[in-house]
Amino acid sequence: MIEEIEEFQARALAELRTITTLDALYAWRNRFYLGKNSALGEISRGLGKLAPEERPRVGQSINAAKQALEAAYAVCETEMEQQERERELREDLVDVTLPGRPAAPGSLHPTTQIIREIERVFLQMGFVIWESREVESDLLNFQLLNIPPDHPARDMWDTFYVRTTSTDERVVLRTHTSPGQIHAMRRFAPEPIRVLLPGKCYRYEHVTARSEFMFTQFEFLVVGENITMADLNGTLAMLAESVFGEGTRVRLRPSYFPFTEPSAELDISCNICQGIGCRICKHTGWLELGGCGMVHPTVLRNGGYDPDQFSGFAGGFGYERSALMRYQINDIRLFFQNDLRFLEQFGS
Ligand code: PHE
Repeated sequence: MIEEIEEFQARALAELRTITTLDALYAWRNRFYLGKNSALGEISRGLGKLAPEERPRVGQSINAAKQALEAAYAVCETEMEQQERERELREDLVDVTLPGRPAAPGSLHPTTQIIREIERVFLQMGFVIWESREVESDLLNFQLLNIPPDHPARDMWDTFYVRTTSTDERVVLRTHTSPGQIHAMRRFAPEPIRVLLPGKCYRYEHVTARSEFMFTQFEFLVVGENITMADLNGTLAMLAESVFGEGTRVRLRPSYFPFTEPSAELDISCNICQGIGCRICKHTGWLELGGCGMVHPTVLRNGGYDPDQFSGFAGGFGYERSALMRYQINDIRLFFQNDLRFLEQFGS
């Protein structure tokens, strides 16, 4: 019997050496010595059949075998757990010294880019940049600019009315940056001024490839003594060459605005066909940039200047319109759709 136990022990230990996983180790323990149904449990049950004087020796032998297996098990378990931990550490290893994924740098919106570029040109000519409010009173957006209530010229700028209690107090989203003229004149009169007023404008407008209900304009205003149309022309020539390239020509075409007299539309020579005529300029060789003119005497007076002593010129052009021409883009809506495929082409 004792031999049998020793043999059993040797077999169990031999098998233990072949075990490689924790699960197999637990199974080994249950099979060989843990509990009544294990092999050792069965051997123990045989004790009862032995002669009483043999029992202590065999019992000791069984205990010794059990202890040996337990000890071997413990060593094996510790070893495997250790290996398991090392494997986990190896597999979950994060190399903190690897370079991170680079964040793709964004770029300035094309409207912002052209705003800055145009601002630079005006700054070089000694203009001051001023921001005026986007929500205006009817008084400033229209009346002080020589557009009384019910004047047909209002049809040119239908707008979003915010409040409509009385005609004077009507609040609108400004339809152009021109009310900024009044703000600037009232702030500085009777000093001569040169200001650039950039900002968003809103019109109650059918949205098409050429027009949006929201867009960005820049207004320029010069007031002083002896300011003439020649000054306007020179300023525009300088602007056109700086923004649209050397050799760009300007043309003033008679037009009408209630707040300028005389009024004009500024055309620049088409920078795509160099004035020969193409699809973009509708075969005229010219592209229309915006309105301008000599500040109307009534508007000068509303701003606080004596029109007998002072004169001035002003104009209001669209930034998106300028960018459309400059980059040959065929749809103004692209500027406000935030489509990265469009915006990424303007990365600087
Ligand atoms: N405010 C006019 C517009 O939005 C443009 C303009 C500005 C014309 C200043 C003349 C003088 O159409």
